[in-house]
Amino acid sequence: MEIITRRQRLHSIVRKIRREEDKTIGIVPTMGALHEGHLSLVREARRMCDVVVVSIFVNPAQFGPGEDFDHYPRNLTGDTALLTDYNVDYIFAPSVEEIYPKGFSTFVTVENLSEQLEGAARPGHFRGVATVVTILLNVARPDFAFFGQKDAQQALVIKRLVRDLGFDTEIVILPTMREESGLALSSRNAYLDDEEQRAATVIHRALALAEAAYAHGERSAKRLAELVRTEILTEPRARLDYISVTDADTLEKIDKLDDHTALVAVAVYLGRTRLIDNVVLQPAKQKARVTVET
Ligand code: PAF
Repeated sequence: MEIITRRQRLHSIVRKIRREEDKTIGIVPTMGALHEGHLSLVREARRMCDVVVVSIFVNPAQFGPGEDFDHYPRNLTGDTALLTDYNVDYIFAPSVEEIYPKGFSTFVTVENLSEQLEGAARPGHFRGVATVVTILLNVARPDFAFFGQKDAQQALVIKRLVRDLGFDTEIVILPTMREESGLALSSRNAYLDDEEQRAATVIHRALALAEAAYAHGERSAKRLAELVRTEILTEPRARLDYISVTDADTLEKIDKLDDHTALVAVAVYLGRTRLIDNVVLQPAKQKARVTVET
């Protein structure tokens, strides 16, 4: 496993692999502080691709003023040790200056999909994500790129970006990994104290209630949202930032779920930590949807 810090080095390695070795390349973009959620992406990348690159870069462009960029957990040594067990070929761990050199002034915006939910709560967030993902795809030229469903809106933004800009990369979205308690794995869980960890399990319980109600025939977006809101309110340490029920592909608000595959997404504060989670509710006949899209 080689740790690469320069774009140029990664670029020339992948160019050689593509030209001379005819191998498939997979990238798992991360911001480090790796957990089992990331590792599930790495495992799938290892299964599907000949060469696996994991990028570790805490991307300043996707953090707003007053957000946790400075405090975001960073542990390149620990992450590297973890990845040696997964037979990763390259870690790409550039500096901020390497990705955004002096005078950097080109940003990528995916309109519409970036504006609601997380985009409304964190203005500029998806511009930062789309920009860094564009750079990573350009540098690594992967056949496949792997992301988690926990960041559902990010997954949609990236799929649209790849489609609109004509990248030759398949975006693979893998299911959210959870603790036994149901809490979705996230690097930000490291901020939670024991009490907050316990309290945060209300998020999954609330979403599971919406899933159960949907399975019993509830199709009103308002009533499903209300169920989630009411459950989250039972936990005094949790503060709901938003609950939204939208079409899972367009993120447009819906009233009735009838024929729609719906995304029920929440953002919840536990103390100063903001966590997101979601469930997808889909009509039985659509359940066989594939998760690999170009
Ligand atoms: O999901 C993340 O960790 C980040 O948003 C990503 C995709 C690595 C871009 O910085």
